[in-house]
Amino acid sequence: MSAAKQTVGVIFGSRSVEHDVSIVTAQQVMQAMRTDRYEVVPIYISRDGRWLTGPTLRDLRTFQADNLDEMMGMKEAIISPSTPHHGIIVPPLSGRFGRNELKRLDVVFPVLHGSHGEDGTIQGLLELADVPYVGAGVLASAVTRDKVIFKALMSHYGIPVVDHVGFTRQEWLRDAGAIVARVATELGYPVFVKPATLGSSIGVAKADDAEELRTYIDVAANFDRRLLVEKALTDAIEINCALMGNDAYKAAPLEQPVTWQEFLTYEEKYMRGEGGAGMKGAERKIPAPISDDLTQRITQMAQDAFRAVDGRGMARVDFLVREAQGEIILNEINTIPGSLAFYLWQEAGMPASQVVDELIRLAVEAHAEKRKTTYNYKTGLIAHAATRGLKGMKK
Ligand SMILES: Nc1ncnc2c1ncn2[C@@H]1O[C@H](COP(=O)(O)OP(=O)(O)O)[C@@H](O)[C@H]1O
Ligand SMILES: [Mg+2]
Repeated sequence: MSAAKQTVGVIFGSRSVEHDVSIVTAQQVMQAMRTDRYEVVPIYISRDGRWLTGPTLRDLRTFQADNLDEMMGMKEAIISPSTPHHGIIVPPLSGRFGRNELKRLDVVFPVLHGSHGEDGTIQGLLELADVPYVGAGVLASAVTRDKVIFKALMSHYGIPVVDHVGFTRQEWLRDAGAIVARVATELGYPVFVKPATLGSSIGVAKADDAEELRTYIDVAANFDRRLLVEKALTDAIEINCALMGNDAYKAAPLEQPVTWQEFLTYEEKYMRGEGGAGMKGAERKIPAPISDDLTQRITQMAQDAFRAVDGRGMARVDFLVREAQGEIILNEINTIPGSLAFYLWQEAGMPASQVVDELIRLAVEAHAEKRKTTYNYKTGLIAHAATRGLKGMKK
């Protein structure tokens, strides 16, 4: 590592039902960033999509205020997609006498969960800006964010997923009866209802009959325009595998989150134990108390699945496992997992500061690799069109 500090923009919040979780994860990430290595630039996207920056964003208490606009020392800022800018413009619109400043960012660290952040949208902006960024790219972010597309893709690669029925909100509103009938014949009860692109168990519910199914789909349809119903694997345990890397993925010890309710709810994930800022989170067994054989197969499947989506950076790959049958079913991949799975890397002997170092290093490495691609393809076409005229051109 060079002596000069790297300027790292940490983006969090955003228009997502997982906004609050993102704020907490981002505070953990910023705390883990060594002050002798990084200059941290916090960039907060409010619930309604405004971009702000300022030192107060590094304090969790800031977010208890009702009106963030009135907070001292916070300015509007945007990441420019223009490559020479390579950073944020603060404030993006300055008045007649105002001045704006361009702040270069060496790396951007998206710490966003779910919509407008973990789904390829921010990643798209950063690709345009040509700024190195932590974590998965546009493709991996987008396909892992949609539980329906993701399952179809995994099936294509021969990775087992749970039986499901996927549909859009429009299809549900047009003919709910047809979807209820499909669930009865193709899946049977109980089933899990899920919004396709959310996380943190928001909108997830277990339905035991057609009436519950209708109620829960109506609820889920408020949160997403893409939906799915899955067969409930009532006899499965959950096993998660954290990965890190761009090409060869390193795996942390597996965890088994333990739920006391019917499934792992939002409250269980984040609000167990003595509340407050520390996301104590769900009860978990690390390493998961399963056989070496299962551990190896799950780890291998996690790596295969992440590779199949062109994954890089980090992931937490979540499975449903029927231990007695030795059956492993892939549930989902989170490309920006809660707390960035710090607690799992800790078990691998990697403190959070080292995880952050490694993720930033991987971001720079991935960016350098992408630089090998040629985007500039000059031809004689313009000169040809200029002399011959546009009319004669075939497309
Ligand atoms: N098909 C299923 N069978 C049994 N339990 C499930 C199933 N799908 C989800 N669950 C339970 O619901 C939780 C949330 O579902 P998940 O698909 O992981 O959504 P999210 O993206 O919100 O985390 C899981 O952690 C698990 O406890
Ligand atoms: Mg999950």
